[in-house]
Amino acid sequence: MLWRATVGVAEGRMTLGDLVMINAFMIQLYIPLNFLGVLYREIKQSLTDLDKMFTLMEKEREIADRPDASPLPLSADSTVRFDHVHFAYESTRPILHDVSFEIPAGKTVAVVGPSGSGKSTLARLLYRFYDVQQGRITIAGQDVRDVTQSSVRQAIGIVPQDTVLFNDTVEYNIAYGRPGATRAEVEEAARAARIHDFIASTPKGYHTMVGERGLKLSGGEKQRVAIARTLLKDPPILIFDEATSALDSANERAIQSELKSVAKNKTALVIAHRLSTVVDAHQILVMEAGRIIERGTHQELLALGGRYADMWALQQSAEGEQFTEVMGMEP
Ligand SMILES: Nc1ncnc2c1ncn2[C@@H]1O[C@H](COP(=O)(O)OP(=O)(O)OP(=O)(O)O)[C@@H](O)[C@H]1O
Ligand SMILES: [Mg+2]
Repeated sequence: MLWRATVGVAEGRMTLGDLVMINAFMIQLYIPLNFLGVLYREIKQSLTDLDKMFTLMEKEREIADRPDASPLPLSADSTVRFDHVHFAYESTRPILHDVSFEIPAGKTVAVVGPSGSGKSTLARLLYRFYDVQQGRITIAGQDVRDVTQSSVRQAIGIVPQDTVLFNDTVEYNIAYGRPGATRAEVEEAARAARIHDFIASTPKGYHTMVGERGLKLSGGEKQRVAIARTLLKDPPILIFDEATSALDSANERAIQSELKSVAKNKTALVIAHRLSTVVDAHQILVMEAGRIIERGTHQELLALGGRYADMWALQQSAEGEQFTEVMGMEP
């Protein structure tokens, strides 16, 4: 159209004024059309999102509460028991084989063993991300399948192997452990988890947004936020899954002593790669390929002279080597 008009001007049928006017009309026409296009795309995207949401909502959850599930009574007893537990994520590949152990209320049980032996799986089952196929897991004598998931999760504080944070402020992420906590309580937990100074050094402090769309935290920083969250929640049962694995040794040592004092008198399942962090556990389970192959206190296991004793000797010599390396000494 514009081309024809331009030709018209060239042939003398139209004046330049006509052309400017046509151009103005065209612009007036295009802008709303463009806007309509954007609107159309937005509406279409929203409808697709809604559709996806409804499909998700219709999907059956992997783990659902029984219709008659009652909340776990938060009594003084928080004994955890695994009773002949068999478990597989996929039916073709069993992961746990006949696992039985007890964490008496107020005691700490540590789990050690090679990568892939099923240690984190124990934590996931206790938190009831999955249900066992055979055997049972009980808290205070109640099968976790008979009580509501929310009450089980209320009773447990977990510092997972890899922490996922919400796209929200640091304060929200820590206070999530105990909704309604005051700023002073949040700061106290952050101090104990050795993350307060870092948070305070950011321009927006506790209002700093973290996660995908905010400040990206390092593995160790995320881990410390998760520790602060758990300290604030202060639940009767604790799970630490390699809770300090992403930290440097100075921070690890400092937080380990903090965790130790928190775990005192709590029922705790502690998964650790560094054996020196679990020597005081009331019982240590050594896992291999989904089975508990040894159990006992640190001293008992050393005296047994089995897998644990081997692992201990190996780590001691490795730490010794690192020490001489750091100090610049010849071994
Ligand atoms: N969601 C899953 N689906 C299928 N298989 C899984 C899933 N999660 C873990 N597994 C498998 O279960 C086995 C045990 O995994 P788990 O995470 O319990 O090991 P781990 O002892 O914690 O190891 P690491 O020390 O490396 O953390 C592994 O072989 C793993 O491949
Ligand atoms: Mg693991």
